[in-house]
Amino acid sequence: MFEPIREDLVEVEREFTRHVQSQVPLIPTIGTYIQSGGGKRVRPALLLMTARMTGYQGPLAVMYASVVEFIHTATLVHDDIIDEAETRRGRQAVHSRWGNDVTVLLGDFLYIKSMSMALTPDRLDLVRLLCDVTLRMIEGEIYQLTKNGVVELSEEEHFDIIRRKTAYLFAGCARIGGMIGTTTPEQQDALWDYGFNIGMAFQIVDDLLDFTGEEQVIGKPVGGDLREGKMTLPIIHLLQRDPRAERIVRDTVASGSISLEDWRELRRMLTEHGGVDYAYGVALDFVARAKAALRLFPQSAERDALELLPDYVLARDR
Ligand code: IPE
Ligand code: IPE
Ligand code: MG
Ligand code: MG
Repeated sequence: MFEPIREDLVEVEREFTRHVQSQVPLIPTIGTYIQSGGGKRVRPALLLMTARMTGYQGPLAVMYASVVEFIHTATLVHDDIIDEAETRRGRQAVHSRWGNDVTVLLGDFLYIKSMSMALTPDRLDLVRLLCDVTLRMIEGEIYQLTKNGVVELSEEEHFDIIRRKTAYLFAGCARIGGMIGTTTPEQQDALWDYGFNIGMAFQIVDDLLDFTGEEQVIGKPVGGDLREGKMTLPIIHLLQRDPRAERIVRDTVASGSISLEDWRELRRMLTEHGGVDYAYGVALDFVARAKAALRLFPQSAERDALELLPDYVLARDR
């Protein structure tokens, strides 16, 4: 699926390495540590593919693909402090290794660096969009904190969190590809919808993997969301159907940990009441909407690849 942009993705890695260079050696040290930990690069891929589909051939695609990966990386290092998650991409999270002080500042460095990179080509429209989606993402993280441990969280509130913290950045990536390519305003809106719906599905699947995934495969702690006090779709669904789940959820949120027995019981209840299937079905709806948004573009090999991306998001196990 990413074959057409393979070389561009290699370039993105080069840009990433180049932009974490600094006179202060700790910055490239941590930068390289994060970069070599892997990561799916799905946001850069999205931007590169939409740029390609809309006929763009030039240096801006790789540049903005690197910018969005920088923004994403900054969110991850901060997010792991907030969530007290000790592992990321199968290794120690940055704050677990270098401490919170350095990690906060490194995240700041990445954010501001991303904006200065975005400014270089003199495209204020793109900078404006990037600021907008990044601010929404931070608002989402803050809003999520205000709802932390709230067992009564509604599905609507939950969607509000995930669209801010994840979906808008995906929407921005897809739109930027079209903004550097040749598109009508309607097509740009369609790309926004495409990215947005992929982002919603992506976060729902991420939340599902927190229950169904293998720690070694996803590279971050399983069951973390609930211990952190995050109510995600399968749990919201279950709480509406089985009052016995509430005791486990409340205990887990209160203590920040869950016994193996409760964990097994919770997973059993999720299966029994179809919470996992339900959330998967919702993700499937978002995927269908993402694909539908591509109808505004003429058939091409690039469009075919973009049609496959939502399926990858659904099928992923990491
Ligand atoms: C993790 O993003 C944060 C979410 C929005 C769920 P990714 O799953 O894209 O993380 P990496 O970059 O591949 O590690
Ligand atoms: C996504 O939320 C993080 C951001 C969008 C900043 P999560 O907290 O669920 O992401 P993971 O699970 O830590 O990757
Ligand atoms: Mg997290
Ligand atoms: Mg998660």
